[in-house]
Amino acid sequence: MSELVAVIIAAGGSGERLDAKVPKALVQVAGKTLIEHAVANMAPVANQIIVAAPPGFEDQFQDLLGSEVTVVTGGKSRTLSVKKALAHVAEENGYVLVHDAARALATVNLAIRVIDSLRAGEKAVIPGLEVSDTIKRVDGDNYVTKTHNRSKLRAIQTPQGFTRKVLIKAHSSSNDLTDDAALVEERGVEVKVIPGEERAMKITTKQDLAFAERLLVGSVDSKMRVGIGTDTHVLSSDNKRALWLAGLHWPEEVGLDGHSDGDVAAHAICDALFSAADLGDLGSNFGTNSNKYAGASGVKLLTETVELVRAAGYSINNVSLQIVGNRPNIASRRAEIIKVLAAVLGDAAVSVSATTTDGLGLTGEGRGISAIATALLLRSAR
Ligand code: CTP
Ligand code: MG
Repeated sequence: MSELVAVIIAAGGSGERLDAKVPKALVQVAGKTLIEHAVANMAPVANQIIVAAPPGFEDQFQDLLGSEVTVVTGGKSRTLSVKKALAHVAEENGYVLVHDAARALATVNLAIRVIDSLRAGEKAVIPGLEVSDTIKRVDGDNYVTKTHNRSKLRAIQTPQGFTRKVLIKAHSSSNDLTDDAALVEERGVEVKVIPGEERAMKITTKQDLAFAERLLVGSVDSKMRVGIGTDTHVLSSDNKRALWLAGLHWPEEVGLDGHSDGDVAAHAICDALFSAADLGDLGSNFGTNSNKYAGASGVKLLTETVELVRAAGYSINNVSLQIVGNRPNIASRRAEIIKVLAAVLGDAAVSVSATTTDGLGLTGEGRGISAIATALLLRSAR
């Protein structure tokens, strides 16, 4: 029997243990929020997707996920969030997968194996991994009361699959348990465990988040992309023109000519970011003759560049900048430069160096300043 599948994603928690500024499902891994990862991973098998959002965040979730996804307000507990989402499952769906936004990296292959097992006749199917630690039960004073036989234990993950009827019946119970299978077990329905996967790990702590980032960035379908940018401007013949370099004003120095504020360092970084993201360059994005950018500050152009690069699905890992010229003395203000640039670059790691060119060329003769930048971007798996 080939039944349609509805996927419920419980995302109504606040993520207290992760301790981020936003609810856990809105925390980013490799440039995308956990809920976006979860939805994208499950979408290929889903006829309908229902997400339980934390109260107050419904609109933000809807904007992020698009109109194809039904967003409902989550409840006080995970069980209640799933219950609320379950009320929206269309009758045409014979199977329901219940998934956690916290297990955002679980692959569609896992979902397919769960569904295959339902199609083979199971009514409740859950993924689980063998445990490598010995698990003991303790009493209130931490004395061991029982040692479990490890070979019979499984660490259970999501997505968990059920026939719609079995899941609805199970949720008619008022018990509040940590997974849906437990409600089904209470009714005496057999629950089948199939092999889980490492990527379906639950993201609970900051360490889990770092591990998830490594899993994604190290995987074949993720991309690291490096970019390069350079820029050079001539020192102005107007010695009242202010020098703007690397986002800072240098009061004692003569400025650089240019359509914008002439900040060669900011421009080189913009080009490095555009080149890494394969989004063209400064000219093709901002138009060197456009009035909109006449006199625009380097920081403004950089801020807009960062937005475009993020919108293309990248996060910035690090930026290295080298300034080439006889003046000004960069070392004396290196910390200030890094602070200003890192703030614009979303706290990416920034390093700044400087060099002269042994009296040679435009920079060596003191007629101008150049900058060279490289950027490393991380692209999330799609
Ligand atoms: N969840 C939910 N509604 C709740 C509580 C939790 O939908 N009232 C969801 C979470 O969003 C998460 C999943 O259930 O995707 C598993 O819960 P957990 O990992 O504990 O997430 P949080 O409750 O957000 O985290 P914490 O317990 O650290 O606060
Ligand atoms: Mg919780």
